[in-house]
Amino acid sequence: MKEKLLTSLESLQIELHDALKDVESPQGLQEARVLFLGKKGKLTQILKGLGKLDAKDRPQVGAKANEIKENLEEIFDAAELRLQAQVYEQAIAKDLFDISLPGRPIVQGHVHPLTQIYELATQTLEKIGFQTYSGPEIEDDYHNFEALNIPEDHPARDLQDTFYLPGLKWLLRTHTSTVQIHVMEQNEAPIRMIAPGVVYRADSDVTHTPMFHQIEGLWIDQKTTFADLKGVLTLFIQEIFDQKTQVRFRPSYFPFTEPSAELDISCVFCQGKKKNCAICKGTGWLEILGCGMVDPAVFKYVKYDEEKYTGFAFGIGLERLAMLKFGINDLRLFFENDYRFLEQF
Ligand code: PHE
Repeated sequence: MKEKLLTSLESLQIELHDALKDVESPQGLQEARVLFLGKKGKLTQILKGLGKLDAKDRPQVGAKANEIKENLEEIFDAAELRLQAQVYEQAIAKDLFDISLPGRPIVQGHVHPLTQIYELATQTLEKIGFQTYSGPEIEDDYHNFEALNIPEDHPARDLQDTFYLPGLKWLLRTHTSTVQIHVMEQNEAPIRMIAPGVVYRADSDVTHTPMFHQIEGLWIDQKTTFADLKGVLTLFIQEIFDQKTQVRFRPSYFPFTEPSAELDISCVFCQGKKKNCAICKGTGWLEILGCGMVDPAVFKYVKYDEEKYTGFAFGIGLERLAMLKFGINDLRLFFENDYRFLEQF
């Protein structure tokens, strides 16, 4: 009984080979598939005999049946490929395809210019020794304003500038300086952190979009001075642009730094040589980022010893950096995703 079953299983393969020899069409193939592998097909018929076998023989015959089933399927697959190729050959012979036509080009995307700048800037800062952190985009008033020494009546809290969530408890962060607070709450000094990310302000015109990107930087240690700030930021700027780029620090104001400065770079388009330069307006300088020494008032909020530690912070606008680096003149182009714009970078 067992031997008989095994032989008829074996011979199924030969039978199938014979049956497929004359098959010329997909329908023929389908019919053969039903005949051999269908519910009432030859394989099923043979397997009916399995029930009559001694229990000890069943596993062996069962395993053989599975093996044969796989083989049959492979034979069908090969036949299908053969038929497919025949169909194409016939079509080509009848001139249904013009194989001399050029193929359709595959459109290849690439990295968005903002992402390129984001990666260049974070990698450059990481080389200098900063570690990358991220923070939430939905913030509370405390992290966005209060702990950064921005009191309740400060104009930076203006409802016009800020997107509040219903209830006014939460808001979309207006700058990445919030991450300074999160990192200091969770870590002891010394700190060397950067925090790239998206920020939001209720502004929209040629030079403002309601959403844009910043990289925050914070460096805290004992005896950190303004000279460290100048050294690190000069190095950064010269890595991003080129070694000949000049920098100047102009006094400014931020509630969370004291003293505060605005960093300008020498005009990357005219090098200060063109009186009518549209980019620097003939001044020779371009404003590029805000920075300063961390105000001791901020250390009080995060319970750092303001006698022991000093530090500096900076905030870079990534769109502005990309515009200067690539010579782009309209901020909105970054967000329109026009292929003719994007493929230039
Ligand atoms: N958070 C400031 C802004 O968005 C930039 C800044 C960061 C300034 C850190 C000083 C220090 O304008």
